[in-house]
Amino acid sequence: MLNKITVVGAGNVGATAAQRLAEKNLARAVVMVDVVEGVPQGKALDQWQSGPVEGFDTRIYGTNDYELARDSEIFVVTAGIARKPGMSRDDLVKTNAGIVKTVCEQIARVAPKSIIIVVSNPLDVMCYVAMKASGFPRERVIGMAGVLDTARYRMFLAEAADVSVEDIQAMVLGGHGDSMVPLISYTSVSGIPISQLIPKDRLDQIVTRTKNGGAEIVAHLKTGSAYYAPSAAAVQMVEAIVLDKKRILPCAAWLQGEYGLTDVFCGVPCKLGRNGLEKIIEVMLTEQERKDLNTSAEAVRSVQAIVGI
Ligand code: NAI
Ligand code: 2OP
Repeated sequence: MLNKITVVGAGNVGATAAQRLAEKNLARAVVMVDVVEGVPQGKALDQWQSGPVEGFDTRIYGTNDYELARDSEIFVVTAGIARKPGMSRDDLVKTNAGIVKTVCEQIARVAPKSIIIVVSNPLDVMCYVAMKASGFPRERVIGMAGVLDTARYRMFLAEAADVSVEDIQAMVLGGHGDSMVPLISYTSVSGIPISQLIPKDRLDQIVTRTKNGGAEIVAHLKTGSAYYAPSAAAVQMVEAIVLDKKRILPCAAWLQGEYGLTDVFCGVPCKLGRNGLEKIIEVMLTEQERKDLNTSAEAVRSVQAIVGI
């Protein structure tokens, strides 16, 4: 158990993540920081009051001031705004980059040894902003997207094969966008290659649905995006770090030659432990998968260029 974990952004993803962190007893205290006055305070009190019922002793604090987050061991950054009518994609990137920059400068000030898990979108580029603004090494700036995209893929596969989601092993690599790369060659059900259980045309449909996984939910909700699975995914990464589990999870990492890619954040298999990103695992890819990964990384680079830092 850690002393303190801070979630920045007390919106849908942030507040749900804070609740999950407390319910898993991963820290003595969970702090939620947001710019809106009253919201983090009110949500935190409500959440803390679920402790006696849910059986957790984690204290949950809400604040607009980073002092309460001082010396947190891990930060989960979910701050940002959704695209508003009339706003271009570039405007959104710049606005969220400004927010993530301010947030990560504050994190570096109050907790220079912490680990940052980035959730804010556009994910891979916000990781880049977080790394630049904090000045932290790549081991301590990790992006959440692959765990979520893989969870969606696993859920669709489990439904199609009519088996437990627990028995589906899979990995989705690449950037968090429609160029993400679900690896069919590494998808299995308890070791049985997926192609033996699901026909190719059905698999192709599932891959497409996975790539559109976020948009499918936005289309239903109309105002806002997914947060139950995203918060669960971020908390799984936190848990792997807190418990030093050495889990191999697909995460956005700053690549320095791995997979032939340099100076770009991209989803790859990562070993997570108490030191954060402990290792990037390079797996063999088919020619097509390697091509797709390159295309995905190039898509991230083009958004990174908008930020211009
Ligand atoms: P939300 O709108 O419910 O919450 C965002 C919160 O950030 C708001 O409470 C807002 O007041 C706060 N905020 C804005 N500026 C801030 C600042 N400077 N400091 C602290 N807090 C600030 O949005 P939601 O649904 O929680 O999503 C959060 C972010 O996570 C979005 O960028 C979203 O696109 C992204 N996301 C990423 C996923 C991924 O797979 N990486 C999955 C789901 C969401
Ligand atoms: C998602 O994939 C919006 O990135 C978010 O649900």
